[in-house]
Order: sequence, then structure tokens, then C-alpha cells
Amino acid sequence: MAPEFKHISVLRDELVQSLHLQAGSIAVDCTAGGGGHTELILQAVGPQGKVLAFDRDPWAREVLTQRFQKELDQGILELIPEPYSQLENVLSQKQLLGKISGVCADIGVSSPQIDHGERGFSFAKDGPLDMRMDPTRGVSAAEVVNTFPEAELLRIFREFGEEPKAHFIVKAIAHRRAQSPISTTFELSELIAANVHYKERSRKNPATKVFQALRIFVNDELGELEALLKAIPAVLAPQGRCSIITFHSLEDRMVKLNFKALSEGDSHQFDRRLPLTAQQLAKLENRQYRIIKPFPLVPSDQEQESNPRSRSAKLRVIERLSKETET
Ligand SMILES: C[S@@+](CC[C@H](N)C(=O)[O-])C[C@H]1O[C@@H](n2cnc3c(N)ncnc32)[C@H](O)[C@@H]1O
Repeated sequence: MAPEFKHISVLRDELVQSLHLQAGSIAVDCTAGGGGHTELILQAVGPQGKVLAFDRDPWAREVLTQRFQKELDQGILELIPEPYSQLENVLSQKQLLGKISGVCADIGVSSPQIDHGERGFSFAKDGPLDMRMDPTRGVSAAEVVNTFPEAELLRIFREFGEEPKAHFIVKAIAHRRAQSPISTTFELSELIAANVHYKERSRKNPATKVFQALRIFVNDELGELEALLKAIPAVLAPQGRCSIITFHSLEDRMVKLNFKALSEGDSHQFDRRLPLTAQQLAKLENRQYRIIKPFPLVPSDQEQESNPRSRSAKLRVIERLSKETET
């Protein structure tokens, strides 16, 4: 595959610091990618610790293997070639449930996935219309576009892309695919550009939302995140933390609501101007998680300027309490 794999980690220090890892901890990086966060996690847990690093992209795992050959040989790092929705299963097999001090995820695609046309993620680079992070599993974007019923395409473009012109785009796709299949990213983006006209000049490429929707659907990104969020209680050790960076409002909302539900009884949820009721006090005493403030954290102006892809990032952190940490 293409030689260079260049990804700038977003909130690199902030994400790893938020996990509060100690030497000897066991940690999980759900989205190892180019290994920018993994490297700092390895430093934090040290030679007595252990890091499990998931990535479902074979190319990323190849790069990680080269970068961390020493840590892999020493057994400090283990690469897991599975989607992170398998986190609970994988940890159960390794008898590590309830023993993880830090779990992090930097959700979404890496820059190399977007930048290399042959992966088929980008409307700006020509290539086969694929978009699978793991090209060995599941259905490609081309299969979706060429074979799914129109009603299903409409749902995908609306639900995952919030595309207001989904109806026109689906009609154009249906007309086109009746003649010949849509096989490349440029074929799809040109078809959209020819059929959708936005008034505002400054608008992004008209294919932006459809490409985003297809990517989210093809990789079941929301289903993956949901499974990860569900696994938190089974996975974290007392005082363990889970830190998640999202780039999309649908995902951020899922993380926010899930953390809020887990931390029910957290004093942050009560109106500070009023005295606590007996019910609130009982909740406070029984709470098992706390949301770490002041989150969500977003990249500094400087980071956003030097890495425009960090602009929509939001970091949220939750901690599982133990008797000793309760305050
Ligand atoms: C934004 S990049 C992570 C970059 C990484 N934190 C770094 O510092 O280099 C996201 C990575 O997560 C992987 N990924 C996304 N969703 C995944 C999933 N559900 N399971 C496993 N890996 C996933 C992608 O293949 C990609 O390499």
C-alpha cells in the first residue's frame, strides 16, 4: 500500500492526560490509527503496564506494527484487529473485565484514510467508491449506492448526513444507476454537483453530506460507538476513566447523554443555588460515575489553526468512582 501514513493526533496531550494513568496501569486505545495517542499512553503506563490497541484498518495496524515493534515484542502493547464494538468480548476472553484504568477513543477516520484516493472516502480524490475502514468486511459505499432501495438511501442521507436535498440526490442516483453503476468517488460527487444547486457561494462541496452519511453507514459508526458506551461499566476498574473525542454532533450527543445517564446523581446535575433534597442526597451517595469537568474540551485556537481537521473535535471524560474517590 501507499508508503506515507501521516496523521496529526487531535488533543494529543489532553486526551492522554485526562485518563490519569499510573505506571503499571492497563489501558485500551480503541482507535490507535497512526499511534500518536498510543505512544503517550505507553509512556504513561511504562514497562510494567499494558496497552491494548484496537484498529480495524489493516493499513493502520501495519504502520503501528512498524512503529511499536519493540513494545509489541516486549508484550507491553497488543494490537487487536477488531472493531472496538468487540471491546467487552475481547477483554472477557483475556479476563480483563473490570481491570482497565483508562479507555480512550478518537472516533472517526484518519487523515491517510481520507487522503488516499484508493480508499474511496473522499469526494476530492478519485478512487473506487469504497469507504470501508476494514476493506475485508461489510459492504462498500458503491454497493450501497447501486443496490439499496431508494427509501433506504433517503434514510441514510437524511439521518447520517442531515442532507436537506436528499430527495433530489436519490432520484439522480436512481436514474443514473438504471443506466450504469456508479463506481468511483468522482462519479458520485459529479452526479451530486450536477443535480444539487446551493444558493450560498461559500458552501462546502455539495457532496460533503452524502459522503459523510455513506461513511457513517458503511462503517456502522453509530452502532460501534453505542456498543463502546454500553461496555464502559463492564470494562472500567474503580477510578478508571473513559475519554472520548468525537467530531460529529450525532456522536457527541450520544456520548454526552450516555455519560449523563451513567453519572446520574452527580452533583453537577443539581441546581447549585438550591439546597440538596433528601432524594438528591441519596442519589449522590449511590452514584457510581462522575463526569470530569471542565469538559467537553475543544482544541485550542492554535491547534485548530495548525490542524483544521481538529476543528469539530470535542473531548468528554467520565470516571468510575470507588468508595475511596467519592467526595
Ligand atoms: C482519528 S483516527 C485515530 C488516530 C489516532 N488517535 C492517532 O493519534 O494517530 C481513527 C482510527 O480509528 C480506526 N477506527 C475507527 N472506527 C473504528 C472501530 N469501530 N473499530 C476499530 N477501529 C476504528 C480507524 O481505522 C482510524 O485508524
